Amino acid sequence: MKKASRFVFPPKFLWGVSTSAYQVEGAANEEGRGLSIWDIRCRTKGGVTDGSTGDVSADHYHRYGEDIGLMHQIGIQAYRFSVAWPRLLPRGRGQVNQPGIDFYDRLIDALLEKGIQPWLTLYHWDLPQSLDDLGGWTNRDCAGWYADFAALVARRYGDRVKHFATFNEFSVFTLFGYAIPWAAPGVTDRASHLKAIHHVNLAHGAGVDVLRSLVPGASIGAIHNHQKVLPEHGRDENREAAALLDEHWNRAFPDPQILGVYSPRLAQDIEPYLQAGDMARICRPIDWFGLNHYGPIFARVDPQFVWGYGWGDSPPGAADHGVGWPVFPEVFRDELVTIGQRYKLPIYVTENGCGGGFDAPNAAGQVLDEHRINYLTVFIDAMGQAMQAGVDVRGYFVWSLLDNFEWGSGYTQRFGLIHVDFDTQKRTLKKSAGWYAAKIKDSQ
Ligand code: FCB
Repeated sequence: MKKASRFVFPPKFLWGVSTSAYQVEGAANEEGRGLSIWDIRCRTKGGVTDGSTGDVSADHYHRYGEDIGLMHQIGIQAYRFSVAWPRLLPRGRGQVNQPGIDFYDRLIDALLEKGIQPWLTLYHWDLPQSLDDLGGWTNRDCAGWYADFAALVARRYGDRVKHFATFNEFSVFTLFGYAIPWAAPGVTDRASHLKAIHHVNLAHGAGVDVLRSLVPGASIGAIHNHQKVLPEHGRDENREAAALLDEHWNRAFPDPQILGVYSPRLAQDIEPYLQAGDMARICRPIDWFGLNHYGPIFARVDPQFVWGYGWGDSPPGAADHGVGWPVFPEVFRDELVTIGQRYKLPIYVTENGCGGGFDAPNAAGQVLDEHRINYLTVFIDAMGQAMQAGVDVRGYFVWSLLDNFEWGSGYTQRFGLIHVDFDTQKRTLKKSAGWYAAKIKDSQ
């Protein structure tokens, strides 16, 4: 593609930020919240690099008012957050926890008061531990428990929230939770992985139906981490590994959910768990495709993992994102084109952003995160190029509003536009926050 002239974003284009409950809320042991699989993961040896937990994190549970004030100051138009299932239903089903319900009421009202659209993700990886004790996503009943949770959320918040995502990054939590042991619950087994894929797909379909029937005017999507998978060093021996990882990572969820089919190898593997009528239950009409993207994956043969594939090295000399992830904005542009053509839905980029443990205030108290500004600049330009090529992208959410608990990396990575001093909870707008504010203003 030839280099495009500077793209002007349409005035209706939506500029947002994303967070998730376990990563920012803290208050893990307060006001009746139940345990999630991540509370347990954090207490498992080797579960998190720095041995940390989300117990306090950025304390958003108590400081959401200040955080919304800062969002408003930046000019952010939409806030994507997730609701913690174990805060609403401490045991995953049954008894409702009123203080948890009230917390999201306050959060939503405070957003609306500042004119910020609430975008609610139902599930961002924090399955109630009580449900995991019953098999979690490997248990087909989990789809029904999820639908009941979705109904509670829809009934309680659907009068004010209109944008819902059923799940965040299906492929990441199923693959790393049930096949490669990088996330909760840390199972490593092919059959568990396949069951989890199928049951999560069923839960998605059930969630869409619930939201559609209970929330008039709902705009419903699902969020996929879609990343091009390439064989490490372009070597033939890695091609098969890359193809299988591509099916698990990129196709296992949007294909059945939007096109009504599993890709060939998955169709074979999932057959034992498929019941009559399942595909119709999974493939329900949705309104948008949520894309989370950070960079391509280089795959290689790796017998230490159950599927025989693993993460390989980036090409020598590839720019590094600060987390060890390679920076290829042109791959992002091409992914947008591919997704637009394949799934034919409006796209929201629901996550994109840049980590880097080295963000720290200087002597003058400023956080000069030029690396993040450079990253966001080239990725937003790449998105503009895709739009110029005809892709229907409607909005962009930076990951993340705040520095927070970065799953297995604990607090060693900082993705925020806002620096958080985790000892004092002091917030400092990084230079990138000012840059994003100008970008938003510029495109209005
Ligand atoms: C995504 C997750 C998000 C955050 C970013 C850096 O895969 O959805 O919670 O961890 O990566």
